[in-house]
Amino acid sequence: MEYGYFDDRNREYVITNPKTPVKWINYVGTLAFGGLIDHTGGALICAGDPALNRITRYLALLPGSEFKGQTLYLRIREGSRYRVFSPFFVPTLDPYDRYECHVGLGYVRIVSEFYGLRANVTLFVPPGEARLLEDIRITNIAGRPLEVDAVPVVEYTHPDALKQITNADWVPQTMQSKAYPEAGGLLILAQYPFMLRDTRINYLTSNRPVSSFESDRRRFLGDNEYGTWARPLSLQAAELGCYEAQRGDNIAALLHHLGPLAPGETRRLITQLGQAPSVEAARPGIAAYRDEARVDRAFAELAASWERYLSSLQVETPDPAMDRMLNIHNPRQCHTTFQWSRYLSLYQTGYGERGIGFRDSAQDAMGVLAGLPQEAKELLRRLLSVQRAGGSAMHQFNPLTMQASVGDAAERPDLPQYYSDDHLWIVLAVCAYLKETGDLAFLDEPVPYYERGRDGRPLATGSVRHHLEAAVEFTRGDLGAHGLPLLGFADWNDTVNLRAGAESLFTAHLYGRALLELADLLRHLGETVAAGKYLAWYEEMKARVNACAWDGAWYIRYFDADGTPLGSHTDAQGQIYANAQSWAVLSGFATPERARRAMDSLYEWLNTPCGIKLSMPGFNGFDPARGGITTYPPGAKENGGIFLHANPWAIIAEALLGNGDRAYAYYAQINPAARNDQIDTFECEPWVYPQNILGDEHPQFGLARNSWLTGTASWAYQAGTQYILGLQPTYAGLRIDPCLPAAWAGYRARRRFRGATYEIEVANPEHVSRGVARLAVDGRMLQGNVVPAFADRATHHIEVVLGLASG
Ligand code: NOJ
Repeated sequence: MEYGYFDDRNREYVITNPKTPVKWINYVGTLAFGGLIDHTGGALICAGDPALNRITRYLALLPGSEFKGQTLYLRIREGSRYRVFSPFFVPTLDPYDRYECHVGLGYVRIVSEFYGLRANVTLFVPPGEARLLEDIRITNIAGRPLEVDAVPVVEYTHPDALKQITNADWVPQTMQSKAYPEAGGLLILAQYPFMLRDTRINYLTSNRPVSSFESDRRRFLGDNEYGTWARPLSLQAAELGCYEAQRGDNIAALLHHLGPLAPGETRRLITQLGQAPSVEAARPGIAAYRDEARVDRAFAELAASWERYLSSLQVETPDPAMDRMLNIHNPRQCHTTFQWSRYLSLYQTGYGERGIGFRDSAQDAMGVLAGLPQEAKELLRRLLSVQRAGGSAMHQFNPLTMQASVGDAAERPDLPQYYSDDHLWIVLAVCAYLKETGDLAFLDEPVPYYERGRDGRPLATGSVRHHLEAAVEFTRGDLGAHGLPLLGFADWNDTVNLRAGAESLFTAHLYGRALLELADLLRHLGETVAAGKYLAWYEEMKARVNACAWDGAWYIRYFDADGTPLGSHTDAQGQIYANAQSWAVLSGFATPERARRAMDSLYEWLNTPCGIKLSMPGFNGFDPARGGITTYPPGAKENGGIFLHANPWAIIAEALLGNGDRAYAYYAQINPAARNDQIDTFECEPWVYPQNILGDEHPQFGLARNSWLTGTASWAYQAGTQYILGLQPTYAGLRIDPCLPAAWAGYRARRRFRGATYEIEVANPEHVSRGVARLAVDGRMLQGNVVPAFADRATHHIEVVLGLASG
């Protein structure tokens, strides 16, 4: 069964059946102001931090049919009664004649037809604004005049999102609303918890006269809330009660008489849900966005900002589903993870237990470098500022307060209180930023370390370069019995939590990769001695890994504190782990024979038609000595599930080994855009990568969950663009080193790089996977495959021919 279709021309996915297996969502705005809109118009909006400044009350745990955060009611006068329904389908669930939810770039548009009314409602946050606009157009398609009212409704939460759930005394005693009538019947309905009355208010307002309003949920639903969101009793009266809530569950409902609509006639109503220091401060912005032309301009500006972002790379390959992802949906998901880290989705509910993840955001930044270099730099600065002076990093931080924590490690004080991989990701991310932008001055910028004195001032500050060096030095000094990095509370795999003293092969590989990056950077800076030092450290770790971690047909994943290997053929469960193989290639530690053998073992034991499993066989029973992995049944999440984040690493590893067919097969099999006809199994949005898919040990093999906020976004984008298509930023320029499926005759791409535009045409006449035989820049042959960076902002034509004659 299909629930909708891709509209590539408009860069949308159009949902045509609102009864999707789980809610499907889109994001509007940014972390500064924005949130998620579900496909039936529910909205979770916040400003700066979903835990500490949440605006709408969206309870993801309620069934899909329930009101969540906001809706729009329409009503048609029928004699002395009203026919009341929501054009968003939820929460009234009326039968619809047409229903479309257009999931666009930074907006959601719901187009529906019920009872002779067509609604066309676009929800978006104008770039840089602290307001959600709802641009509502209602058209009479009944063939007879209709008397129509429109009632947008928002339900507020206390800004402290968790307190709203946990404290049902303090919260309702503080919540208040106040109406500010304006000339011409316009109204601003403000809402605040008492303590913020004079400093920060939320408001709902519109550009048409409001004949009455309600701000108290009990009065709106009626009958002491035995009236329901599906049938609010107050909407059967001619007017709402105009009650300014002094406490309780605050809502904002604004009743607009759109008047008699003649057949074919359309009325436009624009609402604004915003936040400001005060109503006075909000007035100019409110006035501006009451103007229809201003709203049209804002929508055009939104489209232009997405166009700017996406135009950093557009491709044309023989695979339309790959083009769809690389040109539209994958970079959009990268933008989303970059904004929200793992903080706010239907699965990561933003109540404060996570915040912005250090390692997650470092990897997310790598997905947006071409499109948002300045914003990425800003995020890197923030991440560096929660690195400890010793080189390791805090695991996550709250974006409003910059208060950091050790994450889940805090729940297990018996285990080490740091993650062994966190700090190493920042080396990869900063080097990737430098290669994209050439902004080497960033290395000298001073950034404080996290530790603070009693006065709240940083105890130490170091240059960005010093931060990177401290990161690898920390790992070099934090070794276990085999000379491998200690695991800490966990490495990238959060869920293997072993006794102190355990060692991590993943961290060893990531350390190796980070050392190669640093050495490459230093060589570029002309510092060969310093580069040599890191290469010596690299060789030292490579030798240790190869001396103790080869299991015969694959690399093991950990050593337990007592020296027992994990991820070995001797294990009954967790015999082989994907990351131990792919990262042995990414680090360059694996010898060529072992690399091939390890990746073949991965293919043989871990590959499925829905993607690569993280490990196998799954642990079958809770074992506190193993940690979180054993809290899942076999086949779920990290316990033998298809944990998608790890799949692009296998793609990259295969590409590095030159196996273009397998790299592409791995890419194609997890492409969500190719799952549109399998939604009854897959269940999640087909335009984003989910974090996990149940593996083949689970009865519901193929079921996806935790869509949107996953490192899969950034890595699938990197794997597709840098390793399959082979467009790799380097310090010297753009290296072109594709690793294609042999069947491909080539591809085209348009890449913005350091201000210039590269029109790239790759031909593959001999149907090889890899090897640049010829490369011409603007018609002139080039030695090698690194196209120089041009400072001219011009367009350059790059012709590449792959073939066996490559040097
Ligand atoms: C999700 C976390 O956000 C990410 O940091 C981690 O690497 C994966 N889980 C794997 O455990």
